[in-house]
Amino acid sequence: MSRKKIALIGGGQIGGVLAQLIALRELADVVLFDIVEDLPQGKTLDIAEASRIDGFAVAVNGTNDYKDIADSDVVIVTAGLPRKPGMSRDDLLTTNAKIMKSVAEGVKEFAPNSIVIIISNPLDAMVTLFQKVSGFPHNRVIGQAGVLDSSRFSSFIAWELDVAVKDINAMVLGGHGDTMVPLVRYANVNGVPVMELLERKYNDAAKAKEVMDAMVARTKAAGGEVVKLLKTGSAFYSPASAAIQMAEAILGDQKRVLASCVYLDGEYNVKGYYVGVPTVLGANGCERILEVSLNEEEQAAFDHSVNAVTTLVADMEGLGF
Ligand code: APR
Repeated sequence: MSRKKIALIGGGQIGGVLAQLIALRELADVVLFDIVEDLPQGKTLDIAEASRIDGFAVAVNGTNDYKDIADSDVVIVTAGLPRKPGMSRDDLLTTNAKIMKSVAEGVKEFAPNSIVIIISNPLDAMVTLFQKVSGFPHNRVIGQAGVLDSSRFSSFIAWELDVAVKDINAMVLGGHGDTMVPLVRYANVNGVPVMELLERKYNDAAKAKEVMDAMVARTKAAGGEVVKLLKTGSAFYSPASAAIQMAEAILGDQKRVLASCVYLDGEYNVKGYYVGVPTVLGANGCERILEVSLNEEEQAAFDHSVNAVTTLVADMEGLGF
């Protein structure tokens, strides 16, 4: 059986970490593509030269030629500029839309059967544009946002409760912006509601709510928190890990339930937009959307977030994309 192949479009900060994680896990052969000459070749040579030490046997190559992404099973796109301090994800819209259009054309021509995971921001608009330009079926174009946002939320809960983060189940839905919706009511530690544990810890319902509100706020602003500290770019380790979890679910046909930015065709009362919801990821990409019931407050927050996504997409279309 021949090995799987993953193409990474964009060989910057996230692209480099993606390549290394794929190699360390022997998930697939890797082709790292970038328009900057020599950059992807340099990064992949560096990673490949650690293969004796790390003991991996997959091929890791860099390229400036789209031809080399042929026969990729999965394509992960990080091409585009990252945020600078003070910039919103939406400020990136025009620049990254131009880049995404060219990427979609390249992937359509050279890896027409691949399943594509988009990381570039502003995420919801970039996924929409990639699908439109490529014409790929919606199940094969998915955005990475929810896995990372959920991991950030879970981390904050674990640190607060002083329990292992892998025992936390918490999900973040909606668009990948300030309006995202961390689902507090469903957040649990091995089935026990997080709110119940917080109330026991503080023996005070108001204090428990205050602590949860702060974790929700931190989750929504978590990307910006990292940007502010790094000063020269945005988060790159955690977005890479998140996309790898999605790629693993797809390549291994794992049917993992992961919050992903997928095309809604009436689910959650949304039609024709890409929004973050719980999905089943397997060999066909987004195989199913899981609908969870939302109470009035959650629904209002979700609607507000969907509104932000539709506005963003309209802005992009207004710019001629
Ligand atoms: N085709 C391919 N690659 C491109 C193109 C293009 N048309 N234009 C730019 N690139 C490359 C750049 O040369 C750079 O190497 O995309 C890479 C982006 O890397 P970084 O600037 O290091 O950004 P990174 O931190 O990896 O984030 C990439 O993901 O999370 C989002 O907001 C983030 O949109 C940003 C993206």
